[in-house]
Amino acid sequence: MHIGILTGGGDCPGLNAVIRAATRALIGAGARVTGIEQGFLGLMRRRLRPLTEHSVDGILDLGGTILGTHNRADPFHDFARGGADVSAEVLAVAREARLDAVVAIGGDGTMSIAHRLHTMGLPMIGVPKTIDNDLALTERTFGFDSAVAVVAEAIGRLRTTARSHGRVMIVETMGRYAGWIALEGGLAGGADVILIPELPFEPAAVLARCRGREGLEGDGSTIVCIAEGAVPVGGQLTVAHTLADSPDPLRLGGVGEHLRAMLEPHLQSEVRTTLLGHVQRGGTPTAFDRVLATRFGHAAAQLAMQGRYGEMVALQADQCVSVPLADVAGRNRLVPPDHELVLAARHIGVCLGNG
Ligand code: F6P
Repeated sequence: MHIGILTGGGDCPGLNAVIRAATRALIGAGARVTGIEQGFLGLMRRRLRPLTEHSVDGILDLGGTILGTHNRADPFHDFARGGADVSAEVLAVAREARLDAVVAIGGDGTMSIAHRLHTMGLPMIGVPKTIDNDLALTERTFGFDSAVAVVAEAIGRLRTTARSHGRVMIVETMGRYAGWIALEGGLAGGADVILIPELPFEPAAVLARCRGREGLEGDGSTIVCIAEGAVPVGGQLTVAHTLADSPDPLRLGGVGEHLRAMLEPHLQSEVRTTLLGHVQRGGTPTAFDRVLATRFGHAAAQLAMQGRYGEMVALQADQCVSVPLADVAGRNRLVPPDHELVLAARHIGVCLGNG
C-alpha cells in the first residue's frame, strides 16, 4: 500500500505531530508513505518526496509543517493558470505515483477539495486541523488548544500592565467567523468582556462595563477579548485585506482598533489594542494538541489500512471516530448562542456585549 500525505490551508501547531504519527503507523503496518509538498499544489506541480521513519524523527513538538502548505492551491481553480480546472491532471499525477490514497490534513477548504477529488476517484482521508476549531462534526481540531494557550498567556500579560495604568486593553484574536478562540482564550485569561461573531455586540454595553470598572478601587482596568469576526449590532465585518484568486478571499482583522475608536472618546481611561495575529498559529503545540494530533494521525493510518476512504477522522465524546467527508465539506461549526461556555461566561459576570 502506498499513501500520500499533504497539509493544506493555513498552518497550525500539531501538523508535524500528525505527519509523524500517520507515517510511523503506516510504515509499521507495511505501507509506503510519500509526502506531498505545499498542500494540493504538490499534486498540481508533482512535488512529492518519500517520508521515512527517519524523516519524521524529532518533529513531534515542531510548529509549522515539514511538508509546507498553501492556502490558494485548488485543483478545481488553478490560480496560476487563470482559474483552470486541473483536477484531472491531479488524478493523473496520483495514478503515476501509484498512490492508493491521500491523507489530507486541513481545514474546511481542504476537506471540500478532498471530498471533490474523492468523488472523482482519488481515495481521500481527511484529518481536521485549524486553530479556529470550526470544522463540522468534530468537537476539537488540533491547533486550537495551542492558540487558546497563547491568548490566555497574552491576556495574563496585558492584565498586569493594564492594572498599573488603569487602562482598557483590547486583545483581538483570530478565529474567522467562529468565536471559539476568543471565548475559550478569554475565559482562560479572565477577560472582563468577550465579543464573538455569533453574538453581535452593542458598543454601549461594552462602554458601560468599562465605565463600571473605571470606578473600581484598586483596579480600574478592563480586558476586552474580541474575535476578529465580531460585529457590532447592525454593523459589518472588519476586513483587513482581500486576496485575489483565493477560494477564501477575505482576511479579517482590525475590529479591535475600531472598538478602541468607539470607546476611547467616552472613557477617562486610555484604551490600547493588541492584535495577536499569527502569533496564535506559531510555535510548539501544547501537550493536548500533540496527543490529539497523534491520535488523529494514528486514526487516519487505520482508516487507510482498512480501505475506509472518503472519511475524515473526528473527535466525538472524546473518542476518535470517522465521519463522511461529504458531511463535512462546505460546513462550519460556530458557537451556539446557548453553548455551555457562553452561559458560564454570562453567569460569572463576563460581559458578552449584548446586555
Ligand atoms: O483559519 C485559520 C486562520 O488563522 C484564521 O483564524 C485567520 O482568519 C486566517 O487563518 C488568516 O489567514 P492568513 O494566514 O492567510 O492570513
